[in-house]
Amino acid sequence: MKTLIHSNLEYAAEELKAGEVVAIPTETVYGLAGNALNDDAVLKIFSVKERPFFDPLIVHTYSVEAAEQWVETIPYAARLLFQAFSPGPITILLKKKKIISDLVTSGLPDVAIRIPDHSLALELLKKCNLPLAAPSANPFGYISPTTAQHVFDQLQGKINSIIDGGACRVGVESTIVGFEGEKIIVYRLGGLSIEAIENVVGKVAIQKHSSSNPKAPGLLKSHYAPRKPLILTELNEDIFSSFQNKKIGVLRFSDSVPTIVAHQEILSSEKNLEEAAKKLFAALRHLDSLDIDIILAERFPDEGLGRAINDRLARAAAK
Ligand code: TXA
Ligand code: MG
Repeated sequence: MKTLIHSNLEYAAEELKAGEVVAIPTETVYGLAGNALNDDAVLKIFSVKERPFFDPLIVHTYSVEAAEQWVETIPYAARLLFQAFSPGPITILLKKKKIISDLVTSGLPDVAIRIPDHSLALELLKKCNLPLAAPSANPFGYISPTTAQHVFDQLQGKINSIIDGGACRVGVESTIVGFEGEKIIVYRLGGLSIEAIENVVGKVAIQKHSSSNPKAPGLLKSHYAPRKPLILTELNEDIFSSFQNKKIGVLRFSDSVPTIVAHQEILSSEKNLEEAAKKLFAALRHLDSLDIDIILAERFPDEGLGRAINDRLARAAAK
C-alpha cells in the first residue's frame, strides 16, 4: 500500500465513508480516524495501531448538537465546558447511546466526545458527516505524532492517506474530563490546563493513572514512550557523572546544561509552557533517533501545561 500525504478533503471524506482509515491533523496531535459507526473501520484502527481492545477510542465531531445523537445526556457542567473550550483540547466522557458500539468504548458505559480545533479536521468532519473515532496516529505505546511526517515515518504502508495540516498547535493530547455524580474528574492531563477548567466549573479531582483504572483502562502508566530509556531527574553534576560512560541526551525546559552531553533539546528559552508542550513530542522523537544511550529529562513547573508535560515524561520514564 502506498501512503499519500495530501490535503484533498473530498477524497478523504470518500475514503472515510467507504470504511477506510485516514490520518488527520488536530490541534493536539495527529489522529487515525475511522467511521465510529462502522465496526470494520474501528477494527482497522485497532489493527493498524496494534492497540489492545481494552483501550477505548475518542469520538470526534464538529458540534455539541451533533454529539447529542450519540450520548444520552449532557450534564450542565459538561455544557459549560463545551461552551467555554470547544472546539478545543478537551474530551468529555458522556453516557453513550446504544448506537455507539462497545468496540469504540471497550465496553464502558461512557463515550469520549471531542470537538477538535483544527480547520481541516472540522471541515472533514462536516464533509463526511460521520462521527470519527480517532486515537493518536502512532503505534500503541509510542510517542504521539505532531506532524504528518511523524505519522508517515511510522504508519507508511499501513494506511492510504495522511492529511497534512502542518505542525500541531498544542502538541499534547486533549485533557479528558468525566463525571461521577456531582464530582468532576480529570482522567488525563492534557492540552487544556486544570486552571482554565477550574475557572469555569470550580474544583476538579485529578485521577491518578494506573494499569487497573476501571474508568479509563487505556490511561496506562507506561505510555508515550521513546524506545531509548528515559530518566526523569534533576540535571546536576552527580547524575551526569553517574552516566559518564554513556552517551547522554538531555531534555530541558529553558537553560542549557554546562556539562558536555551528546545532545540537548531545550523546549522554551523564554520559559513558556505552551511552547514547551508544542515541541515536546518532536524533541523526544529526535532524541530517540540519535546515537545516544539514554535520555535524561528534567521535571517542568507543575502548573498550566507543565502538568501535562510532567505526566507524559513520567509515563515515558515508567517503561
Ligand atoms: O488529543 C487527543 O485526544 C487525540 C486526538 C487525535 O484527538 N486523541 C488521543 O486518543 O489522544 P488516544 O486514543 O491516543 O487516547 C484516548 C484515551 C484512551 O487511552 C482512553 O483511556 C481514553 O482516552 N478514553 C477514550 N474513551 C474512553 C471512555 N469511553 N471511557 C474512558 N476513557 C476513555
Ligand atoms: Mg494515544
